[in-house]
Amino acid sequence: MSTQPVTIAVSGAGGNIGYALLFRLAAGDLLGPDTPVRLRLLEIPAGEAAAAGTQLELIDGAFPLLDQVSVHTDATEAFTDANIVFLVGARPRTAGMERADLLEANAGIFGPQGRAINDHAAADVRVIVVGNPANTNALIAQRNAPDLPAERFTALTRLDHNRAVGILAAEAGVPVTEVTGITVWGNHSPTQYPDLSQASIGEVAALAAVDVDWARGAYIDRVAKRGAEIIAARGSSSAASAASAAIDHMRDWVLGTPGDAWTSVALVSDGSYGVPAGLVSSFPAQSIEGRWAIVPDIDIDEFSRARIDASVAELIAERDAVAALGLLPD
Ligand code: NAD
Ligand code: LMR
Repeated sequence: MSTQPVTIAVSGAGGNIGYALLFRLAAGDLLGPDTPVRLRLLEIPAGEAAAAGTQLELIDGAFPLLDQVSVHTDATEAFTDANIVFLVGARPRTAGMERADLLEANAGIFGPQGRAINDHAAADVRVIVVGNPANTNALIAQRNAPDLPAERFTALTRLDHNRAVGILAAEAGVPVTEVTGITVWGNHSPTQYPDLSQASIGEVAALAAVDVDWARGAYIDRVAKRGAEIIAARGSSSAASAASAAIDHMRDWVLGTPGDAWTSVALVSDGSYGVPAGLVSSFPAQSIEGRWAIVPDIDIDEFSRARIDASVAELIAERDAVAALGLLPD
């Protein structure tokens, strides 16, 4: 066993995703059976008791890899020396709230958290934002962390990717392991574009194996609106699948994506595929030697171009709304 524990901070630790995530982290599902973990549970005062209850249950799990677990309401304390940060806690949209109000309220969370990570986290820190609107919250955190490489800030679209794989596999009647080459582009929102143009089912092109009208119509809608479908079915938003996808994202980032497979990750754009540099948008990506790399040279047909552009236009509008409020430092 490696003797050096890895410090993992989770904001929103007292919430639903936090509850699904923390036990898997303690069990070693992120970094494997040889790496002890120190868990820092960050909450606001209203969620502190719930996080403290989770802390008790983590202790009661007697996880051999759990070196320490602590609860914090101060972001500086929670992020000091953190190697991995899951930013899950966010301000939900409530009745009467306009989108601009939501962006402003979240900027009030993700700006200071980005600064605290910048000033206090470990030099190798990796950050994933789960709390919605995830892409723009990640942009805000990143822009408030000027001393860290921009690539250390990412947002979760692996859940959308996993949904895209699962729903295609179910339609084709094959195991998910047969499905490769899917990309989810753009925003974690209903404008996202799950793209089957490069996907395969076994050795067969996905667009030859399923009905093309379905693939370019009902399939896209189903994947893109799956979050709302789950809220309608469960009465609350996806939790275990979101936590699982966040672990997939971070595990692949640290340990590498297998073989020549790619996945979908919301990354700070370098201008690839016509996505303006600096936006946090979902791309096809591989993790090589601990860094995400956007998969180059994928053919983008006219249909895909229009879909990607529409989702990116939404991200630009979100960025501009936050910038207009003076919440995006240069
Ligand atoms: P939840 O309401 O159950 O829990 C959120 C927790 O965050 C609460 O305990 C709250 O007290 C805490 N919190 C709020 N502000 C905080 C802050 N400033 N610092 C620390 N903690 C804070 O919600 P949930 O079901 O766990 O979902 C969390 C977020 O994840 C939501 O924004 C949800 O929309 C989002 N989400 C994203 C995806 C994705 O794929 N990107 C998927 C599912 C859910
Ligand atoms: C999801 O995709 O399940 C969530 O982002 C939905 C939500 O609004 O919390």
